[in-house]
Amino acid sequence: MARLRWLGHAAFLLELAGKEVLIDPWIRGNPSCPIGLDELGKPDVVCVSHDHGDHLGDAFEICRKHGSKLVCVYEVGCKAEQEGVKPELIYGMNVGGTVELDGLKITLFPAIHSCSCGVPVGIIIRGEGKNIYHAGDTALFGDMALIPRLYGPVDVALIPIGGYYTMGPLEAAEAVALIKPKAVVPMHYATFPVLVKDASEFARLVSERSPETDVIVLGPGDYYEF
Ligand code: NI
Ligand code: MN
Repeated sequence: MARLRWLGHAAFLLELAGKEVLIDPWIRGNPSCPIGLDELGKPDVVCVSHDHGDHLGDAFEICRKHGSKLVCVYEVGCKAEQEGVKPELIYGMNVGGTVELDGLKITLFPAIHSCSCGVPVGIIIRGEGKNIYHAGDTALFGDMALIPRLYGPVDVALIPIGGYYTMGPLEAAEAVALIKPKAVVPMHYATFPVLVKDASEFARLVSERSPETDVIVLGPGDYYEF
């Protein structure tokens, strides 16, 4: 059994193969994060999709404080080292690479977006026969269809639907049609005034186009077991 908790916006805590993986940990200053930094526990691994503040968030501080391993793009790893994260904790990969860590395979997949350090990525995490895809911030692109072909069926896809900075509901629903996950959790909406307010249009579009995919609309702090 794996468990996922939405910490608001793009932040998730994944419990998989006995490990805790924290993704895009924007905790402090995240208006939709239900917990404080001190309530986080000690994640084994922290994954960062890109260096925008709403994704990098508190990653470096968490790694400094708890000795969590950091998986990110090379340049973000260099920045982490400059900011006091121990070099032996940093797995500064690049797009297309995979690292085996604590019984998990973590792959950095392309994303179409901007950032100021390296390139933005999506993150694919496999372990215990489960496959989770966190798309990061991205536009729609056709190569998302390669994910199940390369890495096997996706159990849960975490997909931005808010528009303006990323895919909106229309593009996100098409992404689901390409990825064909068993379940999709919409994220990166409602946090800022410019973003889509709720997941209803996305849920409707997915139910029309990909009826075999369950749309799991979480509230901040909610858990999903799979
Ligand atoms: Ni971004
Ligand atoms: Mn973002």
